Amino acid sequence: MRAAAPPESASEATAVAAERRWAFIVAGIIALLLAMMVFTGLHWAAMPPSRVETIDVNTVHLKGEFVESNLGTALGPDGKVIVRLIAQQYSFSPQCIVVPAEMPVTFRGTATDAIHGFIVGRTNANTMLIPGFVATFTTRFSKTGEQLMPCHEYCGTGHEAMWARVQVLPPAEFLEKARDGERLTCVSR
Ligand code: CUA
Repeated sequence: MRAAAPPESASEATAVAAERRWAFIVAGIIALLLAMMVFTGLHWAAMPPSRVETIDVNTVHLKGEFVESNLGTALGPDGKVIVRLIAQQYSFSPQCIVVPAEMPVTFRGTATDAIHGFIVGRTNANTMLIPGFVATFTTRFSKTGEQLMPCHEYCGTGHEAMWARVQVLPPAEFLEKARDGERLTCVSR
């Protein structure tokens, strides 16, 4: 049991020591957050906007790679899988996207009217789609099966009804379907 309050200088020393201790803890937390940003940036664990690719909104449906006949999944002669899609109020084209599992898949997408976006299930396939710009990223799906792909940027009154489906096929089944070089979708005709 303490007999009396410590003298002024002793309590001041205690306060200074406590402040210094917390200053080190806060500096440590800030340093850790900065280190995480640098690490995820350098390792592409995050997807920072690394490039800017523009497209003319007025002609996007009429010419170039986003004409309707070119939308969907393409298997290039070099074996690369590219998915091209367009978002508009309030749907994606195509409405059902086919991709292979365990292969790199590059998405290329744009929007024609408002800012949209999408995320595929619980994967890291996630981007915004902005009119006038082409969004692109490459990812890999580890599990086969069907995933939902909702729009995740508020784009108007129909936003919550705007979504597509993604079918992730085993690689052999995908390559079988993709052999003839057509644009693949799983939209029922
Ligand atoms: Cu499109 Cu929300």
